Order: sequence, then structure tokens, then C-alpha cells
Amino acid sequence: MAYETILVETRGRVGLITLDRPKALNALNAQVQDEIVRAAKAFDENAKIGAIVITGSEKAFAAGADIKEMQPKTYIETYMEDMFSDWDALTRVRKPIIAAVAGYALGGGCELAMMCDFIIAADNARFGQPEITIGVMPGMGGSQRLTRFVGKSKAMEMCLTGRMMDAEEAERSGLVSRIVPAGELLEEALKVAGKIAEFSMPAVMMTKEAVNRAYETTLSEGVRFERRVFHAMFALDDQKEGMAAFSEKRTAQFKNR
Ligand code: HXC
Repeated sequence: MAYETILVETRGRVGLITLDRPKALNALNAQVQDEIVRAAKAFDENAKIGAIVITGSEKAFAAGADIKEMQPKTYIETYMEDMFSDWDALTRVRKPIIAAVAGYALGGGCELAMMCDFIIAADNARFGQPEITIGVMPGMGGSQRLTRFVGKSKAMEMCLTGRMMDAEEAERSGLVSRIVPAGELLEEALKVAGKIAEFSMPAVMMTKEAVNRAYETTLSEGVRFERRVFHAMFALDDQKEGMAAFSEKRTAQFKNR
């Protein structure tokens, strides 16, 4: 499978996708969208991969959807092609995806990061939804996901003014899980992904599914879902092995990786 706008590598059990359109600050055109979705799906289907990292450059994770590509489109074109709906496939990937964000994550770039399961930010990261400044609004889920991450007040202010958040504010607001020095971003993200990829894969995937359920349902239904999945885990060899290893004071050897 050839890719032209991203680099695709494996590092042990981690699949790494690096956006590679430096001249356009990794702006997300249709080709980038197609390639990221294809690469992530291929990793999802690959039994040797346990987690995925998506990253950009030190200057830009992605400076948004490609404005030059979008500019001439008519309403009927965006409607008929259901522009941006193909990104939904990324949110259906069942293995964990970490966004490792340095530099600009603006518009569609911020939205892509938020489609991932969590965000590790470099200390130079800047997040924003500046679509209002070009006469539109977020179109890849930003008005919904940003609001769930940081609350209505901050999301509303950012979407209505286009103001950017620095890494500190993003961490304080719950948008990113933590901040690391820019030079250590990729190494740290790969380390975290590598750790996840060593655990029992069904347990990891069920955990991701349960946390994501919190966004889609009521508390009581979410807790019921969690309990049912938790009970199902007692059918896994890995539950027996993980608990036996704890009692025997040794490292667990999970079979289902
Ligand atoms: C297409 C882009 C781009 C984008 C940058 N470039 N962002 N091309 N789409 N989103 C291109 C520039 O045109 C320029 O190309 C090159 O990348 C370098 O950018 P500069 O502006 O020269 O860099 P700099 O001065 O460092 O400024 C960086 C920046 C700025 C602050 C990130 O580029 C910027 O404001 N970009 C747009 C951010 C934005 O509005 N994103 C939201 C897009 S809409 P040339 O050829 O001139 O060298 C979106 C929502 C989707 O994502 C859903 C709603 C429809």
C-alpha cells in the first residue's frame, strides 16, 4: 500500500503514522484523510500491532483541513460527497490511538487529535478552532468533541473567537493527558503506546470501548455496560494469568496480545 502524504512505520507492536505534508503544515486534504484512515484500519487489522500513534512535525501536527482545496466547493458538492464523513472510520478503529501533538493543531488538526483516544502534547503545542476567522465553523466534530473535553464556556469562546490554547491551558482544561518537552514527544508517545500494546489486547479493546461509551450514553447505562464487559473478561485466559501473576509476584505473560 503506497502512501504519499504520510509515513507509515512499525516500532515493535506500535503502528506509527506521521503526517508528511510539510509545505502545507500538514493541512488535511482528501488524500491525507484517505491515507490516514487506510493506514489506521490496516494497523487495526494487523494482529502484530497493539496500539497506534499519530503525529506530525515539530512545527505542526496539522494546521487544519486544506483551505485551498475546500475554497471552491459548492454546497451541493460538500453535501453529495458528505465531506469529512470518511473520518468517522478512524473513530471506529478498535485499538487505542494516541495523538502526539507538537506545534499547531488547528481546525481539522485539533479535530483529528480529538478523534484519537488521548492526546500527549509537546510543550510548544497550540490548539484552536479558527474556522470562524475564515467564515465557517468546525466541520470534523470540533464543536461537539471540544465541548465534551473542555466544557461549554471554553469551547464556545474558542469556536467563536478562534483563540488558540497553549499546551498548559490544554492540560489544565482536560484536552490533553499531559505535556512533555517537544524533543521527547515521539519517544514518550511510543513508550506509552508500547506499554499498552503489551497488555491483553481484548482487555485493552474492551476498556477503550467502555470509556468511549461514557460519551454516548447515560451514567446508569454506561455503568451497566462496564459491568457486563467486566464480567465477560472472566472468560479470558489473560484474566486468569494476570491475577495469578499478581499472586505469584511475577510479571504476567498475556497470551492474547
Ligand atoms: C491549506 C495551509 C493551511 C491550511 C497552512 N497552510 N495552513 N494550506 N490549508 N489549513 C499553508 C500556507 O498557505 C502556506 O503555504 C504554508 O502552509 C505555510 O503556512 P504559513 O501561513 O506561511 O505559516 P505561518 O506564518 O507559520 O503560520 C502558521 C499558521 C497559519 C498560523 C498555522 O498557516 C494559519 O493560520 N493556517 C490556517 C489555520 C486555519 O485556519 N485552520 C483551520 C482550517 S479550516 P504557501 O504555499 O503560502 O507557502 C478547518 C475546518 C474544517 O480545519 C471544517 C470546516 C470547513
